[in-house]
Amino acid sequence: MGPTIVGQLMSSDLKVYYADDPDPEKAGQGLALAPLIHTVLGQPDLSYWMMSPAEQMAMVYLLEHLRPRVGIEIGTRFGGSLQVLAKYCDRVFSLDVDPDVPLRLAGRHSNVEYVIGPSRETLPPLLSRLSAEEAPLAFVLVAGDHSAYGVKPDIDHILDYKPVVPLYVVMHDSFNLECRRGLVEARWADCPYAHVVELDFVAGSVNLSPTFREQLWRGLALGVLLPERREGRLEVIGRSTRTYERVLQASGDGSIVPRLRGLGSVWH
Ligand SMILES: C[S@@+](CC[C@H](N)C(=O)[O-])C[C@H]1O[C@@H](n2cnc3c(N)ncnc32)[C@H](O)[C@@H]1O
Repeated sequence: MGPTIVGQLMSSDLKVYYADDPDPEKAGQGLALAPLIHTVLGQPDLSYWMMSPAEQMAMVYLLEHLRPRVGIEIGTRFGGSLQVLAKYCDRVFSLDVDPDVPLRLAGRHSNVEYVIGPSRETLPPLLSRLSAEEAPLAFVLVAGDHSAYGVKPDIDHILDYKPVVPLYVVMHDSFNLECRRGLVEARWADCPYAHVVELDFVAGSVNLSPTFREQLWRGLALGVLLPERREGRLEVIGRSTRTYERVLQASGDGSIVPRLRGLGSVWH
């Protein structure tokens, strides 16, 4: 039987988006899902997940081994990543600006609380509430507003939170120029609980689809906050930094490189 996509549900691990796919956002993207993902997640149908197969595998690896009691997702859309958080976390908060998200996913996840509004406004009170409850927040996915001015406050709010258990912060689209700027400019070093930041936990790529052709997208960044204070320095690192810079230089966007190395602020 061939792969089928029913509405926003995908029911085959082997769906491939070839270059002549009629959907201009997906054409040329290749394999849509991580192999065996239906088996691993124990679900015959999956909500459309806006991550590459390698990103999906990294998410499952972290969540399966962390088994967070409490998780937050900023940016849910069709519920692709939320279905994985909901499987591995006891309790999840889905933050999205789109009021259709809880309607779209009605009845799918009994352990998810939907919070509608811009994360700039909804995240701080949620983190205060979890702090007051001493809730064991162990995982946050940042995948909402993709502008630098959206990513930086999302991260900074998380960095203002004092973790009570190890807190893994995964940030999607770290190869996107705006997202990377926001990630680099966030106040990581000012947070005494931040112990590591790797921008290229999973590297992104130059997008092949007609809609996003020649744009840098995808990539998962990872930050780890621990309840104990850090000793020593913290640098924002990226194992694909040189790859990234060389692509920017080749495309004529090289002037942004010093800023991405933290050598010049994008905020003034
Ligand atoms: C790329 S989609 C998320 C995809 C999802 N994480 C996945 O992997 O399938 C981005 C989502 O972020 C939401 N969003 C955009 N700006 C936001 C903001 N300021 N606050 C909260 N959510 C926002 C959009 O409505 C959209 O649903």
